[in-house]
Amino acid sequence: MSDAVKIVEVGPRDGLQNEARPIETSEKLRLVELLIEAGVGHIEVASFVSPKWVPQMAGSAEVMQRVPKVQGVHYSALVPNMIGLEQALAAGCREIAVFAAASESFSQRNINCGIRESVERYRTVVESALQNGLRVRGYVSCVLGCPYEGPIAPDKVAEVAHMLREMGCYEISLGDTIGKGTPRGTRLMIEACAQRVPLGELAGHFHDTYGMAIANVSAALDWGVRVFDSSVAGLGGCPYAKGATGNVATEDVVYLLQCLGFETGINLERLGRAASYISGVLGRPTSSKVGQAMACAT
Ligand code: HMG
Ligand code: MG
Repeated sequence: MSDAVKIVEVGPRDGLQNEARPIETSEKLRLVELLIEAGVGHIEVASFVSPKWVPQMAGSAEVMQRVPKVQGVHYSALVPNMIGLEQALAAGCREIAVFAAASESFSQRNINCGIRESVERYRTVVESALQNGLRVRGYVSCVLGCPYEGPIAPDKVAEVAHMLREMGCYEISLGDTIGKGTPRGTRLMIEACAQRVPLGELAGHFHDTYGMAIANVSAALDWGVRVFDSSVAGLGGCPYAKGATGNVATEDVVYLLQCLGFETGINLERLGRAASYISGVLGRPTSSKVGQAMACAT
């Protein structure tokens, strides 16, 4: 098994999509610069969704156009339909992510259609994106529980993950949207998914609402997952999952991985600067335990 782990920093998108006050494009761009200085190589910076649904992402085209073009740094953006894809292409986006769910009710509330309909819609989006030379990632939400339906069967998650892979997604990110999962649930869910999608194409995307996210990262790591989504300073939440808090903090994941001897390419101290910057912009302290400890130590 490889000793390298890929971190997909989702702070500028998942982290900021739910903020009450508008974040300036210049502030998002400064955050991206600081993340790059810390060695982050994969950053989800934008979301070409309806601004009526998620006003915080309204400036996505400008963000995507203005992010620094740096060798080895890859940017991605959420795309829910062909309108979003056209906007992403016009903004020079090279990688998109389509986002489905393992829960019917969440799918309806999040993207205004059921799972089947979303998969049919994404088929067209992914085909067109691939024809345009883009890479496409797939998300499955509610993999460890749904805010409206409660528990979700691991086989349902695996089925949706498989459909996304079949249509051409190179990696499937498994989202514990409401952060209610436990290491045991994580293991069962990954085990089911790994029967339908190669383990090397699965990613963990854990929100930390119940404080279990880092434990779930550890469980997924033990199972062989080597890609994790995280948000600097633990930013984030989903507008369609009431009460859900941020993603697992990137600092906490990097610290865990460093201690276990995995290579991420990310410098923890510089990551702390990115966290301090965005926490200052938002006017609240970081929710990263490692970030808090590092701040006390200096
Ligand atoms: P809809 O209302 O069903 O769309 O929304 P529609 O096709 O009927 O169009 C209605 C209007 O929206 C039209 O405008 C369209 O042009 C416009 P009008 O004629 O009324 O003036 N429209 C758009 N405008 C801009 N960009 C677009 C777009 N599409 C249509 N792409 C839609 C359907 C999917 C658009 C909507 O439900 C939506 O935008 N949802 C996004 C929800 C969202 O962003 N949720 C958060 C991200 S997911 C997440 O955070 C989970 C994740 O992190 C993993 C995890 O944690 O689980 C990924
Ligand atoms: Mg999320």
